[in-house]
Amino acid sequence: MISKESKIYIAGHRGMVGSAIWRQLSEQGYTNLIGLSSSELDLKDQKAVATFFETEKPDVVIDAAAKVGGILANNSYPYQFLMENMQIQNNLIDASLKNDVEKFIFLGSSCIYPKLAPQPLKEDYLLTNSLEPTNEWYAVAKITGIKAVESIRKQFGKDYVSLMPTNLYGTHDNFDLNTSHVLPAMIRKFHEAKENGHAPVTLWGSGTPMREFLFVDDMAASVIFALENRLPEHLYNVGTGVDLTIKELAELIQKVTGHTGEILWDSEKPDGTPRKLMDVSKMHELGWKHKVDLENGIARTYQWFLENINNFKEMKMS
Ligand SMILES: NC(=O)c1ccc[n+]([C@@H]2O[C@H](COP(=O)([O-])OP(=O)(O)OC[C@H]3O[C@@H](n4cnc5c(N)ncnc54)[C@H](OP(=O)(O)O)[C@@H]3O)[C@@H](O)[C@H]2O)c1
Repeated sequence: MISKESKIYIAGHRGMVGSAIWRQLSEQGYTNLIGLSSSELDLKDQKAVATFFETEKPDVVIDAAAKVGGILANNSYPYQFLMENMQIQNNLIDASLKNDVEKFIFLGSSCIYPKLAPQPLKEDYLLTNSLEPTNEWYAVAKITGIKAVESIRKQFGKDYVSLMPTNLYGTHDNFDLNTSHVLPAMIRKFHEAKENGHAPVTLWGSGTPMREFLFVDDMAASVIFALENRLPEHLYNVGTGVDLTIKELAELIQKVTGHTGEILWDSEKPDGTPRKLMDVSKMHELGWKHKVDLENGIARTYQWFLENINNFKEMKMS
C-alpha cells in the first residue's frame, strides 16, 4: 500500500518534469522522497544502480530521467539516444523488479507513435507503422521501456505503468535557443524583442502546424494520480486533448509577454508534422484531467523566466 511515508525514488529529480513531481509530492505531504543527480549516480552504470537499490530499497520508483534533445541532437548522436536511454531505463526497471519495488512509473513521449498514425493518437496505435525517422532512436528506446513495463505486468502482475506525455512546458524549462522546444523559445524571443523596442520577431515555418501543450504541474499531477491509483492498463497518454496552430500560440505568447511589434514567418524553414494531438480519453475516463489552461500556464512560465533571467544570460542566441 502506498502511503505518505512510502519511500519514493524520483530518477531525474532535477529535470523539468522530475522537479515538478518532487515539488508536488512534498506539497501533498509525502515525506520520504529520494533523488540523486547524474554525477552522484550515473543511471547508465548497472552495478551502481543495483547497489543503490539494494541499499535504499525504495517502495516506489518514478523514472523521469532520460537523455532528451531536439532533432539536431537526435540526428547527430543516434547511438547515444538509443543506447543511453535503454541503459537508464533498463537498469531502473530491472533493479525495481529484483528489489520488489511496489510501483514503477515510466515516462515516455508522444514520438513513440507512428509518423502517419491517425489523429488524435490513441494508445492502440503503438507499433502499427513506421516511426518519424528524425527521432526514431529515442522512440525505439522508449518503446522498449513500455514493453519491459508491460511484460512485468503480464508475467509478475505488478503495478508498473507507462505514461506518455504530449509536449510539456513550464517552470524550470530550457530557454537556450539552441536546444529549447518551441514554446520556451518563443517566450524568450518575444521578451527580448520587447526589451529591444518591440522589434519584429521572426519565427520558423508557416505557423499552420497544430500542436498540443501541457503545463508541467499538470503532468506531475498525472504521475501522482498513477501513484495513488492502480491503473488497469499498462499505457496511458497524458495531455490536454486540445491543440492550436503555432500562429495562435505565437499570438498568445505575444499577448502574455506584452510585445506589440510585428510577427514574421520564415517559410523557408521546415514546418514538421502538420498535426500531433493525443487522445486522452482513457485518462479522462479514469478521472484525471489537466487543470491549467494554456494562457495561465504561459503566464506562470513567463513569470518564472523573468525571476530567473540572470541564469539564462550566458545562453547563446540562435
Ligand atoms: N519536456 C518535454 O516536453 C517532454 C515531453 C514528453 C516527455 N518527456 C519525458 O519526461 C522525462 C523527463 O524530461 P525532462 O523534460 O524533465 O528532461 P530534463 O529536464 O532534461 O531532465 C532529465 C533528467 O534526467 C537526468 N539524467 C539524464 N541522464 C542521466 C544519467 N545518466 N544518470 C542519472 N540521471 C540522468 C538528469 O539528471 P541531472 O540533472 O542530475 O544531470 C535530468 O535531471 C523524459 O523521459 C522525457 O522523455 C518530456
